[in-house]
Amino acid sequence: MGERLPIIAGNWKMNNTIKETKELLTALIPLVKDAKAEVAVCVPYTSIATARKLIRGTNIKLGAENVHWADKGAFTGEISADMLKELKVEYVIVGHSERRQFFGETDETVNKRAQAALSRKLKPIICVGELLSERENGKTDEVVIRQTKGAFAGITKGNLKNIVIAYEPVWAIGTGKTATAEDADKTIAVIRKTIGGLYGKVAAEAIRIQYGGSMNAKNVTELMAKPNIDGGLIGGASLKAEDFSKVVLGA
Ligand code: PGA
Repeated sequence: MGERLPIIAGNWKMNNTIKETKELLTALIPLVKDAKAEVAVCVPYTSIATARKLIRGTNIKLGAENVHWADKGAFTGEISADMLKELKVEYVIVGHSERRQFFGETDETVNKRAQAALSRKLKPIICVGELLSERENGKTDEVVIRQTKGAFAGITKGNLKNIVIAYEPVWAIGTGKTATAEDADKTIAVIRKTIGGLYGKVAAEAIRIQYGGSMNAKNVTELMAKPNIDGGLIGGASLKAEDFSKVVLGA
């Protein structure tokens, strides 16, 4: 779709020590230097400082995988937006399905984390997506509409240019099963329409919405050919420089 710049973001999850971070990024930098799409890597907190040094001056943007909503305080194990900002992080994943499934993330906490990120000029990549049971029960649209409305509650229109949405059907994550390009495009259109309902048509056309869930070098072209798909959030295929670069260059 015309003017939206595609964004391919790696989601490393709980992978890569500092040593592995150096190896992966050193290999990746030359492979993606001519990418047309925007490129980001969302890395574990322990890799942020190393990644930042390595990618400085390149076309790769730095991202984190989560952020807490409070400015500071008694939240053992959490990281604040100021802490990420200090390390020159630009993007931060919010509401990934693994956070929702295993760490009690709700639409409300996703919203609070997104707001905290925006308040510090971090760009949230807000994840939404249905479970397999929800898809089988015909609830996909209802779920993504609820999650989208929940995530955007209280967020003003002026912030939209700093937000990316990732549509990730939970059953497609790490399973090798991809939503068909048609299904992904259709559900992303529902999310876009939801944004339209909240902020108007122009805003809906402008916001970038990625697909995520077993996206790789083989399926990137077909997915990216769809009018609503503006890139990808890449898990497994972001862990090898060559695999990830093929996704980036295919976008
Ligand atoms: P996957 O993960 O590419 O390994 O399916 C995507 C994600 O969870 O963001």
